[in-house]
Amino acid sequence: MTTQEKQTELDKIAQEIISKKCGLAIANACLNPVPGIGNSDAQLMFIGEAPGAQEDKLGEPFVGASGKFLDEMLASIGLDRTEVFITNIVKFRPPKNRDPTAKEIAGCLPYLYQQIEIISPQLIIFLGRHSMNVFLPELKISEAHGKIYRRSKMVFLPLYHPAAALYNGSMRATLFEDFSTIPSILNELKN
Ligand code: URA
Repeated sequence: MTTQEKQTELDKIAQEIISKKCGLAIANACLNPVPGIGNSDAQLMFIGEAPGAQEDKLGEPFVGASGKFLDEMLASIGLDRTEVFITNIVKFRPPKNRDPTAKEIAGCLPYLYQQIEIISPQLIIFLGRHSMNVFLPELKISEAHGKIYRRSKMVFLPLYHPAAALYNGSMRATLFEDFSTIPSILNELKN
């Protein structure tokens, strides 16, 4: 598929998320669905947990405080958000930012799988334990962060969630350190 064709397919999925609301009650309680944004040909795909208040207002993932931090980390490896794809497991803001339920995750997951299929990223980066545990339920983020996992042709890199690391000096340093390994991981995956 060309980049344009991929974009067209991603747009179709976004429209489906918006119109069908993944069959979920939270979709009616939020302001805007947040399907995901970025480069349809991205080598890197970032998957967070669920939109927060800012994301809900703007319909874009990671635009609040943790998003600014994510932008900073991307810049530290010479990237910006136009070069990657950013999305969440759940495409709607759960009320009062509670954790998404198993039903809400299951309702949104088919769309995430389709996004992965279309973009076909070389590396999928989980931001936080919630997104990691959807794909790798057996792992603990404190042990798994910064390590590579391979499952049915997909390559995963779990990282701490930027919101958790934002005001925690040592976690913040670890997150930057883990981030700094991304370019060499991508290089190895290309060879
Ligand atoms: N936290 C997430 O997990 N996703 C967002 O989009 C914003 C904050």
